[in-house]
Amino acid sequence: MTTPVMLEPFAPTVRGIDGPDPGRAALSAAGRLVRAEAPAGGPVWIVTDDALARAVLTDPRVVKDPAWAPVGWDPRVAGLEPPAAAVPSLTTCEGSTHARLRQAHAPLLGARRLREHYGRMVDIARELLTAAVTQGLVDLTADFTPRYPLVVLLELLGVPLERVDQAIAACRGMFSGAEAVGRAMGAFDAIAAAALAEGRTGLAVELRDRLPDELTPAQVRYLLFGLIFPGQLTTDPALGFVLADLLEGDVPGDLDDLVRETLRRHPPAPFTLWRFTAEDVELAGVTLPARSPVLIDILGIGTSAGRRSGQDLSFGAGPHYCMGAQLAVLELRAVGEVIRADFPDARLAVPRGELRVVCPGGLGGSRLAALPVVLGRPRS
Ligand code: HEM
Repeated sequence: MTTPVMLEPFAPTVRGIDGPDPGRAALSAAGRLVRAEAPAGGPVWIVTDDALARAVLTDPRVVKDPAWAPVGWDPRVAGLEPPAAAVPSLTTCEGSTHARLRQAHAPLLGARRLREHYGRMVDIARELLTAAVTQGLVDLTADFTPRYPLVVLLELLGVPLERVDQAIAACRGMFSGAEAVGRAMGAFDAIAAAALAEGRTGLAVELRDRLPDELTPAQVRYLLFGLIFPGQLTTDPALGFVLADLLEGDVPGDLDDLVRETLRRHPPAPFTLWRFTAEDVELAGVTLPARSPVLIDILGIGTSAGRRSGQDLSFGAGPHYCMGAQLAVLELRAVGEVIRADFPDARLAVPRGELRVVCPGGLGGSRLAALPVVLGRPRS
């Protein structure tokens, strides 16, 4: 039986880039399944063991539909989407409905299709970094890392690129008060509508044409929001860590290995999104009643001393495995390639030990507080 312990896995933290997250060792020492206090109140069960995590992530009795959230949870405090019945999304649907949505997305975001766009990902990285050179010493997390994933993704989707600034503002607005979130959702809706306007081409139109007919236009636009926001939210901080490791880090020379290793040590999603038991479920000897919230400790599992090498959960596992994983890896790789090939003199402008990692608390991922870099002259 797991003993309840008082832990604060959702507290905000600040630490050095190479320092361990202060809460994770305590969490994993507390057991394979640890009970903690959820930000929206009541217990949450956190899985800290790789094998148990994979079992939970493939267990059809543990679902993501917020309709199964504990009664009385404030969706805003918990960061919940609307229930799947109200607004279907990849992140909240299950079973055959989820499978149909995945089938519609999969070929558009698969490795084969995205490799065709890799050259553009490289070009966009080169253009944005070359523009940043004129600033001399530049904090790459101020504009480059938030902007790059959105330029790539909006172009792929077929959104006019004059909307990139609107998209950056909308992504930032999602972390402000209720009014700002409402405005941000309106902006995402307009951005999605722009990609679907008469005469546009791109993955947004292709996706709409592949989705089940019964979805309304507003529901299709919500699915596009469900790519743009998570795509930016994760790749933006990941780029900061990849760039820091690339410029001065104890990491592999091969770019694909570097990206994988950096994501393992600094997963942009340190926990999975919320899951809830849809009936009584026994996990690690504990019977969780229906409506129990469950999270997987992606960061703790990926950085635990006993982890088997090669294993990580940075993109999740099971039916909800990240839909944008291929895109994210290619984007991170493209930026790395450009830094290595075109900016041979690029270096950190401060000692690596001074880089600070800020975790906002809740389920939110960490990001570098700043990444001051001197890019040097681009190779002509
Ligand atoms: C380094 C970048 C990224 C990381 C680390 C990441 C991580 C994750 C993780 C851990 C999950 C599973 C969550 C869970 O099971 O609760 C997930 C799901 C998802 N991600 Fe990503 N992600 C990244 C980039 C992207 C991008 C670029 C996109 C969009 C183009 C995207 C779209 C999605 C979607 C739509 C889902 C839900 C899939 C489903 O539930 O079927 N992600 N991501």
